[in-house]
Amino acid sequence: MANPINKKYFLIFFITALVTVGITLLLINVFEKKQEANLYPSVFKPVGDHETDPKVWGENFPYEYDTYLMTQTNEGPTYHGGSDNYQKLDKYPVLKTLFAGYPFSKDYREERGHYWAITDVKETKRVNDKTPNTCISCKSSQVLVDVEKMGTEAFYKAMFKDVGAHYDKGIGCLDCHNPKTMELRVSRPGFIEAMQRRGIDVTKATREQMRSYVCGQCHVEYYFKGEGKYLTFPWDKGLSVDSIEAYYDEYGFKDWDHETSGAPMIKMQHPEFETWSTGIHAKSGVTCVDCHMPYERQGSVKVTNHWIKSPLRNINNACQTCHKWSEQELSNRVKTIQDRVYEQMMRSETAIVDAINAIKAAKDAGATDEQLKEARKLHRRAQLRWDFVAAENSMGFHSPQETLKTLGNAIDYARQSQLAAEKLMKNVAAK
Ligand code: HEC
Ligand code: HEC
Ligand code: HEC
Ligand code: HEC
Repeated sequence: MANPINKKYFLIFFITALVTVGITLLLINVFEKKQEANLYPSVFKPVGDHETDPKVWGENFPYEYDTYLMTQTNEGPTYHGGSDNYQKLDKYPVLKTLFAGYPFSKDYREERGHYWAITDVKETKRVNDKTPNTCISCKSSQVLVDVEKMGTEAFYKAMFKDVGAHYDKGIGCLDCHNPKTMELRVSRPGFIEAMQRRGIDVTKATREQMRSYVCGQCHVEYYFKGEGKYLTFPWDKGLSVDSIEAYYDEYGFKDWDHETSGAPMIKMQHPEFETWSTGIHAKSGVTCVDCHMPYERQGSVKVTNHWIKSPLRNINNACQTCHKWSEQELSNRVKTIQDRVYEQMMRSETAIVDAINAIKAAKDAGATDEQLKEARKLHRRAQLRWDFVAAENSMGFHSPQETLKTLGNAIDYARQSQLAAEKLMKNVAAK
């Protein structure tokens, strides 16, 4: 027979436990609601279509604004990256030889956080009174307002000293978000037009695609086309370095003539989007945002960390959501990839300098422009490949195999160039 006292105590115990759990759940719920309220105020203040000040947007979204502001922080260098904007020409004097006759031989700094974009473009010695306004395109959300006001063509055609040099807002919320809906958007004409020529309608992009497209509007190779300096992405034949070279060759484009070798050169600019697109992560659907703006839990809400920076400073959120390796292991894997790429990059620099010197020697010995044509063409081919890797900011991590292939070809073309020039020397000497 059951003991009635035990039964009574059990019932009291059971009810107390139930009430306790209930109250706890209620408290957690209230607490989380409060946290959400802290994260996002309940009253939404609409922002204007042309609101370039992130602070105003930040009144609605303090978490995103606060993390956005962190892009001004410098946590120091990583193995091969980080936010330290040191002068590359001091660390790697060989760059002065490689860029001889071009502004990059005067000033070339490592890049840093978005907050600094507007400061750094104004301060670089590469801009002067003749700089076209095109060069402000990726540095400020005021660009969007003026492109609308002036028209795209007139905007590019203007001089930097007259328009962009007077901007005071850097990269901001307006560059990536639609102010009405907060959806991601591509705001830059260059990206939209380049995709259109490849038969891709950016307005039909999936959310996953947008998580790379928003970055791809600026983190790409580009050139200033024609007299109007029209910002153009060289993607008509594809995104690989070989396709980009084929495009430039067909169009007969050069950025400058190399001061020492006389070769018609291409300067590559930060092709992160192109490089990423040839790698295993892109093939697996992993976007720029997954690694550079990982989700973070704030109470019950999952939010996007707007402190865009090196993922090596945030391996836990940036990589370990997918990879069950330890932080040390992940860091080592990145370092191994980057060290291999770095070694080949150094070897290609040596090979290109040898080619430049051989061409100069042949020229000094009396070789004609016609005779030097082949060696110069090979110098161009080698250096644009080296630069495709050197100007890209992940030291090969975004696509390790494609990057090593590119550098292998760079070394081969540089040595072919050197051989062609040395052969000319022998011919000239024999006469
Ligand atoms: C799988 C993760 C991953 C993806 C996806 C990814 N990156 Fe990266 N990215 C990295 C790593 C790792 C580095 C190297 C960081 C370092 O050396 O400190 C890096 C470096 C960079 C850097 C230089 C950062 C620095 O501190 O110097 C930039 C800029 C960059 N990536 C942009 C992009 C863009 C744009 C995309 C998309 C087109 C992208 N990344 C996609 C992981 C990723
Ligand atoms: C460089 C591009 C970029 C800039 C600049 C930017 N954002 Fe975002 N933002 C993103 C991306 C990418 C997401 C993730 C969206 C997705 O996955 O659909 C995001 C998500 C958000 C969200 C949705 C909630 C969340 O955290 O996931 C809000 C709100 C937001 N951003 C506010 C802002 C505000 C406010 C600013 C300016 C202070 C800003 N963003 C600047 C790219 C940007
Ligand atoms: C409007 C143009 C623009 C857009 C859009 C943009 N970036 Fe950038 N990004 C820049 C510029 C310019 C710099 C270099 C700023 C400097 O050095 O002054 C930069 C720097 C960076 C860095 C280096 C940070 C550091 O601390 O070294 C990373 C990483 C990066 N961007 C990733 C991204 C990702 C990921 C996206 C998309 C979510 C994105 N960017 C969208 C223009 C842009
Ligand atoms: C959203 C998921 C996701 C994130 C985030 C992610 N990865 Fe990956 N990673 C993958 C997938 C998928 C592969 C393809 C191989 C596989 O299927 O296991 C891969 C492959 C790799 C490989 C092998 C690459 C190769 O060339 O063989 C390395 C190394 C790696 N990831 C490192 C990282 C690092 C470091 C980070 C953070 C900066 C990171 N991953 C972030 C999903 C992710």
